[in-house]
Amino acid sequence: MITKCVFPVAGYGTRFLPATKSTPKEMLPVVNKPLLHYAVEEACAAGIQDMIMVTSRGKHSIQDYFDVSYELDSHIAGTPAEKSLYSIRGLLKNCTFSYTRQNEIKGLGHAVFSARHLLDSQPFAVTLADDLCITPKNSPGILSSLQQLHQEHGCSVVALAEVDDEKVSRYGVIRGKQLSDRVWKIEDMVEKPTLKEAPSRLAVVGRYLLTSDLLELLGQTEAGRNNEIQITDALKQKAQKGEMLGYLFDGQWFDCGSVKGFVAATNHVYSNLSTD
Ligand code: UTP
Repeated sequence: MITKCVFPVAGYGTRFLPATKSTPKEMLPVVNKPLLHYAVEEACAAGIQDMIMVTSRGKHSIQDYFDVSYELDSHIAGTPAEKSLYSIRGLLKNCTFSYTRQNEIKGLGHAVFSARHLLDSQPFAVTLADDLCITPKNSPGILSSLQQLHQEHGCSVVALAEVDDEKVSRYGVIRGKQLSDRVWKIEDMVEKPTLKEAPSRLAVVGRYLLTSDLLELLGQTEAGRNNEIQITDALKQKAQKGEMLGYLFDGQWFDCGSVKGFVAATNHVYSNLSTD
């Protein structure tokens, strides 16, 4: 059973400037909950209790959010507004939150590596909060499906989604062999390929279940594109050894790192909101 999930939340969120000048991108609300709230909820629903945030300067609102707020609690006690806090209270009751800093913003791979002292030899999950994934109500959820595949095959597993031609150059794209309806054995990965270079239309979505030896690989990974330590470069090595699976998840993926994706997610969540 996976107990720990790493949330890299240290990035600058430059595509959302000026909003992200003083507000972390991961705290931007999709309707009435911050992106990070959805991500923690999803991990909690998969049975994960230890939430590890990799933060940076100016991200203190994340720590305040995942904490009790006595003044507010007593102010709204017994009023209809109290209901709005049930979900965050549930997370605070069932999960622990740890924080570590990424002192230099040197890429996703470096962010995950920065949490190594909070991890052990067990496999762990990584969730990118700006990838909002909405799965059907009765489905087990992406992290649960990744766990199940890990239990069956013993290797790292990443979530996949099919993307249109014009979007392939924005993501990590895989080459692999299809093992079953939704499962691929990944043989290689290319980060942000041109349409011509792209080996498939299957992009890696920000949900990973990683074996702990990935941390060692990340520690040895040299800075690549944009002088950042790319998680794809370490994952690629596992893929080339035949130790990486991909899971095409059932549901909708909104890339909320872009304004367009964020607006689409907002419209989707709002239109599915119960009207009470
Ligand atoms: P993104 O590349 O989407 O986030 O990384 P960003 O760099 O903040 O956004 P832009 O491109 O400037 O608009 C995905 C997630 O990984 C985190 C980000 O905070 C985001 O939640 N991240 C990225 C880190 O924690 N550290 C990094 O060095 C890079």
